[in-house]
Amino acid sequence: MPAPLHTSSMLKEGTFDGQTVVITGGGTGLGRSMGEYLLKLGANLVIGGRRQEVIEATAAELAQASGGQVLGVQCDVRQPEHVEAMLAAAVKKFGRVTGLVNNAAGNFICPTERLSYNAFNTVVDIVLKGSYNCTLAFGKYWIKEKIPASILNISTTYAWTGSGYVVPSAVAKAGVLIMTRSLASEWGKYRIRINCIAPGPFPTEGAWSRLMPPQLEETFDVKKKIPLQRNGEHQELANLAAYLLSDYAAYITGDVITIDGGEWLRGAGEFNGLEQVTHEEWDLLQAAMKPKK
Ligand code: HXC
Repeated sequence: MPAPLHTSSMLKEGTFDGQTVVITGGGTGLGRSMGEYLLKLGANLVIGGRRQEVIEATAAELAQASGGQVLGVQCDVRQPEHVEAMLAAAVKKFGRVTGLVNNAAGNFICPTERLSYNAFNTVVDIVLKGSYNCTLAFGKYWIKEKIPASILNISTTYAWTGSGYVVPSAVAKAGVLIMTRSLASEWGKYRIRINCIAPGPFPTEGAWSRLMPPQLEETFDVKKKIPLQRNGEHQELANLAAYLLSDYAAYITGDVITIDGGEWLRGAGEFNGLEQVTHEEWDLLQAAMKPKK
């Protein structure tokens, strides 16, 4: 049986030939999966991450598995000088950079009244200011060098609904979404596109250990929460990311694509809770409620 299409490569080989893409938080999780796929499509890859040993190990593994070129750079996106050094290292190795994925994130669940000031700052510094730091450094470089380029930001669906228990992340991700829309308008003239993905549940060690403790498994039962009744596969997110970054999406800018199996709409729709009503209960309800002819 061939693999289902959503777990297969979507774009043509060579889509990213001659391009260099930098992914923040590229050592693990979704950042790593996106990088792996871009390499397969011909990109030179630069991955940034806070932990030197993780980033170096991932860079070596990805290069070996793909036969492609990967540079791992220790980079905390909260530090503008780290970001500038990562960009300089990427340009030094590959000649130029054409894409950026603002993937690095920090998050944990916590009642807001239990948060310290520093807890809020930490998440906002990584997610919002980190994405801004990278966008600013790379944008200045692209404008100065007149290089057409593409930025992909990672937001979430609760950037527009909001969500309790992850308030710093919700605030920061909403900022990332608005930065996307704002800059799409401002930087279109420089041929810099900027788009956003809003992923639902795509399990990773980093996120799940902080957001989905096993004690709360029942609360997050995908069968009940997600219309398509499953978690996302990394390849389907990588397909979307690669498409938005690539020239196939040359006329798309400032948009956000949700990839969540219908999760946020299930939570939002007034009557979606009726999912729990059985066929037998519907028979009784309709017998009682339907007007008699
Ligand atoms: C309350 C907490 C906390 C928790 C940390 N803090 N964890 N407060 N509950 N669970 C507080 C600390 O007490 C401290 O405040 C402040 O936050 C900073 O914590 P540090 O551990 O010193 O910070 P740091 O080492 O920089 O770590 C950053 C981090 C950590 C965000 C706290 O979780 C991390 O490194 N995360 C990276 C990976 C990650 O989070 N991935 C998930 C992304 S998923 P005080 O006042 O004590 O100094 C995502 C989208 C989800 O974003 C979408 C799902 C559908």
